[in-house]
Amino acid sequence: MSQMQAERLQKILSKAGITSRRKAEELILQGRVSVNGRVVSELGAKAVLGKDDICLDGKAVKPATEKLVVALFKPKNYVTTLQDPQGRPTVADLVKSISLRVYPVGRLDYDVEGLLLMTNDGELAHRLQHPRYKVPKTYMVKVRGHPGEDGLTRLQQGIRLEDGVTAPAELRVLEHDNKATWLTLTLREGRNHQVKRMCAAVGCPVLKLRRTQIGPIDLGNLQSGKSRRLKASEVRALRQAVGLM
Ligand code: URA
Repeated sequence: MSQMQAERLQKILSKAGITSRRKAEELILQGRVSVNGRVVSELGAKAVLGKDDICLDGKAVKPATEKLVVALFKPKNYVTTLQDPQGRPTVADLVKSISLRVYPVGRLDYDVEGLLLMTNDGELAHRLQHPRYKVPKTYMVKVRGHPGEDGLTRLQQGIRLEDGVTAPAELRVLEHDNKATWLTLTLREGRNHQVKRMCAAVGCPVLKLRRTQIGPIDLGNLQSGKSRRLKASEVRALRQAVGLM
């Protein structure tokens, strides 16, 4: 007897990442699933993934691929996509040594650098970007001029942009001279070009922008253009931050 648990075929197909359980039931009823060479078209049938030879349309069903999360220091002048129709360098060029295909979680603008997470875990990626989970993202920002006390308060408390008022943000002024101000800004939402639009709204265009942190994950001493696979403890912390543990 195998130590492994027999499970209903529809559950096996969905756990293997093939389709939802409901869709899997349809595939079974259509006679497209076989176990050890015999078509199984009733819904109660069970099997053991990894032991029984389970096929969909004659192709072996394998356990879902290992999930991984990668932290990349995206340099400026790279597009956050796997393929660019304009032929510009993409973040995919920087994670070629990683054996599994990983996708960017959200986006950094072409001219923005810093921490970008990439993963093959769809649910984690979805939650990290969903406003409901309010994952904090921290940016180091250099702006032209100085926002003034009023501008700083508005950046913190909320600014009306064309797509609505921004949520409260944490802000720290690091230093300023007579031309520019350096600050850190932590947002719990992620609208398009949000930092740039917020700073422009207080009359201080962004000159330089770097994302340094996403939830519990810090850029640390990662070098520009380099990536590293997150440790199990970091992935746990990240999953916890979005209610997946
Ligand atoms: N805010 C921006 O304006 N751009 C980014 O890429 C990220 C945050």
